[in-house]
Amino acid sequence: MGCACIDARSTQTRQFLKVNEILQRFDRNPRRLIAILQAVQDEYRYLPEPVLNYLATSLGIPRARVYGVVTFYAHFSLQPKGKYIIRICDGTACHVNNSQALLDLVRDKLGIDEEKPTSEDMLFTLERVSCIGACGLAPVAVVADRVYGQLGVQKLGEVLEEMVRAEKERRT
Ligand code: FES
Repeated sequence: MGCACIDARSTQTRQFLKVNEILQRFDRNPRRLIAILQAVQDEYRYLPEPVLNYLATSLGIPRARVYGVVTFYAHFSLQPKGKYIIRICDGTACHVNNSQALLDLVRDKLGIDEEKPTSEDMLFTLERVSCIGACGLAPVAVVADRVYGQLGVQKLGEVLEEMVRAEKERRT
């Protein structure tokens, strides 16, 4: 009969296969922690706690250091995010051009709110952001990395419906 501790270790290794690949890519160098975290977040779409603990152990650094970096940069997320990120700018120029209506539409359509910004099906996460440097096009949203300027609720609704439809087709 095999040793249970070895079984547990190999399960963990399998579970963190992708993380190990990332660690290898960055030579397991703790000085490259930010780049490693970025690559892990790209893989998981957020930074799961067990993965952060595993990173700390693998890099031989205290967990507090890893969590310190993660919580310092707003870009890193400890919460699972949807497949598609919807960023609606609510900076001054966008706000006076009714970005609130865009926020309301997305929240209504996806059944989400500020407390729970990710849709139940894990397809979408809404982020309300400050100026993204395209004020001349206000109101502006970035949906799945595509920028939409002078955006109205009707157009945004159509964009979301199209994405949901395309996703359903992909799944069938
Ligand atoms: S305020 Fe929205 S892009 Fe500048």
